[in-house]
Amino acid sequence: MAKKIIVVGSSNTDMVLKSSNLPLPGETVIGHRFTMNSGGKGANQAVAAARLNGKVIFIARVGNDVFGKQAITEFKEHGIDTQFITVDSNTASGVALIMVDERGENSISVALGANANLDVGALKATKGIFEASNYVLTQLETPIPTVSYLAELSQEFNFRLILNPAPAQHLPDALLRSVYMLTPNTIEAELLSGVKVHDEASAYNAAKILRQKGVNIVIITMGEKGAYVLSNEMAVLIPGIPTKVVDTTAAGDTFNGALVVALNEGSSLKEAVLFAHKAAAHAVGILGAQVSAPLRSDIEAYTKN
Ligand code: RIB
Repeated sequence: MAKKIIVVGSSNTDMVLKSSNLPLPGETVIGHRFTMNSGGKGANQAVAAARLNGKVIFIARVGNDVFGKQAITEFKEHGIDTQFITVDSNTASGVALIMVDERGENSISVALGANANLDVGALKATKGIFEASNYVLTQLETPIPTVSYLAELSQEFNFRLILNPAPAQHLPDALLRSVYMLTPNTIEAELLSGVKVHDEASAYNAAKILRQKGVNIVIITMGEKGAYVLSNEMAVLIPGIPTKVVDTTAAGDTFNGALVVALNEGSSLKEAVLFAHKAAAHAVGILGAQVSAPLRSDIEAYTKN
């Protein structure tokens, strides 16, 4: 039986406004649809993995407010183990303001709130659970020292740490050395490698630099172009699945959540990326973050088409 997947990361409430164009600095545009959805890169990845039948433990921090309570209720409905989600009585839950244009492109600003207080101490309190996991997935909406501590734990407990380095930030070399798999998008890959990623050749160059920093496997997600994978065994661009795009928000999160489920079930790297592509293709067809994450049946239906 597949082991539990641990996701460590953020939980936000997303205020989403759809409009024809994203406003330029100083510009006001008239939007045409507002929704409030559950989001946060960590939570999106945890929910995506759980909806695809992963047994997920989510470690996070929310505020003692209506958003935090709602998030925990929803995680439980998805079958996620929430016992290590702590409630911060002094800080509000994370909130993201998201604008989505007609082509599905977005612009996001996050008030981290309680996510910024998911510190090393919080993780130390959960240390025992890492022994029983093969894969731990995290991102960068929680403090870097917390992510670095997770990297240390991966050495101590011998689990594979998958880091989705979003939103883009510089990272200590010591952290990258302990990362098993890094899954940047093109912007994040450029920041971390210094190479502008726009095609297969530049993706290879960026991924090679990241591997030289000690990362075992690099997967650069390149939107509709697909995902560039560099490991000991392969250097290949695995094309994505052409689909109608409504909203790209959380497409990367869904990709990561699906990827870890497939790897945890024993799929090969290539199979896992193909599975994750299907999940992401489903997600971009629906407005919102967690609401767009597919069930296993959605992926199977996708496979038949
Ligand atoms: O990746 C999408 C997510 O980024 C949104 O759900 C938002 O909360 C921000 O964390």
